Amino acid sequence: MPTTDVVAYCPGSFDPITYGHLDIIERAAKLFGTVIVAVATDAQKDHLFSTDERVALCREVCAHLPNVIVQPFAGLLVEAAHASGATVIIKGLRQPVDLSHEGPMAAMNHSLRPEIETMFLLASPAYTYVSSSLIKWVCGMGGDISAHVPAVVGQRLREKLGA
Ligand code: PNS
Repeated sequence: MPTTDVVAYCPGSFDPITYGHLDIIERAAKLFGTVIVAVATDAQKDHLFSTDERVALCREVCAHLPNVIVQPFAGLLVEAAHASGATVIIKGLRQPVDLSHEGPMAAMNHSLRPEIETMFLLASPAYTYVSSSLIKWVCGMGGDISAHVPAVVGQRLREKLGA
């Protein structure tokens, strides 16, 4: 367990959580005293899983990590992070193109709350191509996703997609 008391906020849609997400969360949990996995409730996005389902799956998958908490959040990311006592936002980068999307958001978040630092972790090589969208697509067409999501996630996905 890390000795730091820094609280890190790890936001995302987690629709559903993948081994790529879990890799970033586990690595953040080694660096920071507390990691909050923050599940976005963004009503504008067309999620496959409800907020409650996404939170429940994240809790199951992160149950072995004692310093990880899972909670939903709504509204501005930096305000939710601040309200939870976080001073760091953790994002994972899979491909260079991710930075073109994440960079402007990090800059905007910094302008809104300069006291909160965004830090990027590079995805481990095994997960550079893993995304929730691809997993849903492949699973919906009957493909094997067992290498990319925990078994419980695969099971719920197949139930949801009738695959
Ligand atoms: O897993 P995702 O879908 O890439 O996560 C995106 C998320 C939830 C991190 C992003 O949409 C977000 O930060 N939403 C909160 C709303 C917000 O703060 N918007 C302004 C960002 S500059």
